[in-house]
Parts: sequence; C-alpha cells; structure tokens
Amino acid sequence: METLCNNFPSKLTFGHDAKRTLLVGAFALGTYQGVKLTGNFLAGVWKHLLRPGYDLKKRYASDSSECWAVVTGAAMGIGKEYAKQLGRRGFNILAIDKDESEMEKTQAELSRLGIKVKTIIWDFGKISNAESYEAFEKELKNATNGLDIGILVNNAAEFQQESLDMISVDRLFRASSVNSLTPALLARYFIPKMLARYNNGLKSAIINVGTNAAEIQNPRYKFAVYGASKAYLHILSSGMREVWGDKIDIMTAIPRQTKTPMCPVDYCFTATPRAHVNAILSQLGHESETYGTMTHDIEYYMRFGMFGGFVIDNMIQWLNEGESKKLISAYERRMS
Ligand SMILES: NC(=O)c1ccc[n+]([C@@H]2O[C@H](COP(=O)([O-])OP(=O)(O)OC[C@H]3O[C@@H](n4cnc5c(N)ncnc54)[C@H](OP(=O)(O)O)[C@@H]3O)[C@@H](O)[C@H]2O)c1
Repeated sequence: METLCNNFPSKLTFGHDAKRTLLVGAFALGTYQGVKLTGNFLAGVWKHLLRPGYDLKKRYASDSSECWAVVTGAAMGIGKEYAKQLGRRGFNILAIDKDESEMEKTQAELSRLGIKVKTIIWDFGKISNAESYEAFEKELKNATNGLDIGILVNNAAEFQQESLDMISVDRLFRASSVNSLTPALLARYFIPKMLARYNNGLKSAIINVGTNAAEIQNPRYKFAVYGASKAYLHILSSGMREVWGDKIDIMTAIPRQTKTPMCPVDYCFTATPRAHVNAILSQLGHESETYGTMTHDIEYYMRFGMFGGFVIDNMIQWLNEGESKKLISAYERRMS
C-alpha cells in the first residue's frame, strides 16, 4: 500500500491519507465487483447447465386423470412452441388464438404427437367490457368442462409499433384488451380451479409471458404502448405470486428478442422460440421471473448488471437501430 501511495500520480494534489483512502476504496470496489461476477457466474452455471428441470407431468398432473395445458396465442410463434413442447411432455392442449387457418395447421401438428387437442378461435381484442368477456367465458367453460387444467400459458399479445401520437384509438384499446386485460381475466378464471386442485394435493402453474420492453431499464425504442401494456402483466404476475405462490407456480417469463412472426428481424442475441421455450419449461417450478436462455441472461448482465454496462448497452442499441426500423416497416406493411 505504501509503495502504491508513493507512486500515485504526483500531479494530483492529494494528501497521503486521501491517496490511501482512494486506493482502499478502489480495491474494495474491485473486490466487490469480482465477488459479484463470480457469484453471478456460478448461479448462471447452476441455473442453465447443472440444475435438472422438473418432470412437469409428475409435478402438475395426477396419475389417475389426463392433464391439460391451456395456451393462448398458440397458432404461431412462441405460443405454438409452448403447445408443442408441453404436448411432447404429455399434456393435452387447449389452444386459443384468433388465426383460424394457422390454428388448423398447428392443431394437425399437435395431434401428431398423440395427444388430445381442443381449440377456441377468439379475438381477445374484442374483449372490451363485461358483456364481451362473458361471451368468451361461456366458450371457455364449454371447452374446459370436465378437463383437469394443470398449466395456463398467458402468451397471446399484440405488438404496437406506432408512437402514442400516431396510434389509432382502436389499436390503443386493443393493446390493453389483449396484453393486459385478457391475461388477468384468464388468471381470474383459472386460479380458483387451481386452488381447488391444490386442496386435492395437486400443484398447477401459470406462465405469464411478458417482454423486456416492459422493463424500465430496457430501451423501448418506439414501442412504448406495447411495453406499457405488458408492464401491467409483469406487476400482476408478481402480485399473484405474493398471494398464491406457495400453492401455484406463478412464473413471469420475459422473452427478449426471439425470431417469430411478431419479431421477424435479426437483433443482436436473437433466440429461437424452441430454445426460449425449452429454457422456460426447464426452469418452471424453480424460477419465478426469467429471460429463459443463458444467452439472454448474459446479454442482460452485460448491458444492465455490470459496472460500465451502459457502454455495451449503447453499442447494442446502435447495432439494433436498423433492425427496429425494419420491424416498423414490416408492421406498417402488415397493417396497410
Ligand atoms: N418474439 C419476440 O421477440 C418477443 C419478445 C418479447 C416478448 N414476446 C412475447 O411473447 C409472446 C409471443 O410472441 P410471439 O413473438 O410468438 O408473437 P406472434 O408470432 O405474433 O404469435 C402470437 C400469436 O398470438 C395470436 N394473437 C395475437 N393477438 C391475438 C388476439 N387478439 N386474440 C387471439 N390471439 C391473438 C397471433 O395471431 P395472429 O397471427 O392472427 O396475430 C399469433 O398466432 C407475446 O406475449 C409477446 O409479447 C415476444
């Protein structure tokens, strides 16, 4: 320490004690960052590479009856992948989506897994008041009558690429109907049934699919309406966990950029739906909030968890800007 103090830049007019304090401070900060990095590294290795996932059928289904999973937005993208991977794990699937023609293809694919598949074609954007919800609940009740539902995946969402001053009133209403209200209404419908399962000795799970655009530290580019409507679900999900987390596994799954019809561009660190969903299902029952893949945990850590991460964050935002513009153009073509 003495030598370091003596070699401290002589042009700076610090007293000996001040130099000593600065060096001790720098050493403490370095040690803290080193310990934090090692801790995060070891936790990441455990979470992604070593810890075995639960056998979901054993965790959520009874030996005596068939178990079902309800997946919204199941015709395409991440929702379709949830339906396929849960189907492969032995769950029958109730798939809900508004896209009838894609749903037919998905239903055929799922049936080939040797499971039972039911579908509801419904546009959640039309759920705007109690009356329109009751019409949907009637359909849901008919479809689930007598079924043992062990897992709900609240996945359907609509992306809004318009800024607040340009978005139509209809699209603004749809953002809250599809991204906020629908997952709340579905959770409200299934929670009492899941608590009844718990009283019969069975666990259930709800996966609420959020987005990194709903996180405060994450840049939203021009997608604030989408991010804000999904932030509702993040808060709701953690609130649900506070109340029922000991009886139902309630997970907030937070996809970062994942290549699907919703996000057809190539951002840095883009994952496939298969890798994302596989990671989520292997963490179900262990994690309450997760980005899924190891790559996305590393990306998050480099941008927002690490000392000086803002440099990497700015670089990634700069690299991604062109892709965000492509995404907006793709949506403008889709909407016209
Ligand atoms: N992909 C990503 O990079 C990314 C990143 C962060 C979060 N997420 C989240 O991940 C989830 C799945 O996204 P994704 O990329 O798989 O989206 P996607 O490719 O657009 O698939 C979503 C599915 O949900 C359906 N859907 C949309 N609006 C609906 C409505 N009003 N009623 C019923 N069904 C509806 C879609 O049908 P149509 O085809 O008819 O629209 C589609 O089949 C969403 O919650 C999204 O917010 C995705």
